[in-house]
Amino acid sequence: MITTERLVLRVFQRTDADDVWAYQRLPEVSRHMRWEPRGRGQVRDAVERLVSENELREEGDCLSLAVVLTGPGTVIGQVELVWRSKENRQGEIGYILNPAYQGKGFATEAARAALRYGFEELDLYRIVGRCSARNTASANLLARLGMRREAHFIGTALDEDGWREEYVFAMVLDEWRARSAPAARP
Ligand SMILES: CC(C)(COP(=O)(O)OP(=O)(O)OC[C@H]1O[C@@H](n2cnc3c(N)ncnc32)[C@H](O)[C@@H]1OP(=O)(O)O)[C@@H](O)C(=O)NCCC(=O)NCCS
Repeated sequence: MITTERLVLRVFQRTDADDVWAYQRLPEVSRHMRWEPRGRGQVRDAVERLVSENELREEGDCLSLAVVLTGPGTVIGQVELVWRSKENRQGEIGYILNPAYQGKGFATEAARAALRYGFEELDLYRIVGRCSARNTASANLLARLGMRREAHFIGTALDEDGWREEYVFAMVLDEWRARSAPAARP
């Protein structure tokens, strides 16, 4: 369990299904995830998967954490950390926030905690975040975290909006440490 100023990040439980349905059913969420809006049954299956993604045991595993609002205890979204390479200490973050809670910095707070966990607890050296170039909110979030936009791929897939363009943002451990170090005194 990870605690931040306003949030708790914890592994998923089956009882989170109603809160998860509240955002996974929405087209404005699903279109960025490249799945269709989910019904109750699909969300139950999705939550079952999220519950099982509770630890990074080996390369390729995904750790999914519920983003819980301290106080009410509502699950307002999810963050994930994927272990891309053991040998090269590589990871990838992902996130979804219920639109009812967007615009308040909760996703930034949760994603920053996931980066901290990746660098400081899992000893990753590089963490990436990917998004469609059309997903301005996600690109802004990755930039707000201090990640560098290091690739802009063009024509990676053909979807209903045309050819997809994709950004890759990244941060390495040295950059994380430089950002986390206390500011030098004058
Ligand atoms: C991507 C996503 C999580 C971003 O959510 P978000 O609410 O914009 O991000 P944050 O919670 O960090 O909030 C940032 C906004 O809150 C504002 N804000 C208010 N208080 C803040 C604080 N304390 N700290 C940071 N930002 C704050 C920021 O100015 C920013 O507003 P702006 O977009 O008008 O500039 C959300 O759009 C989403 O879930 N989309 C659907 C799923 C998705 O696309 N996932 C990613 C796939 S690649």
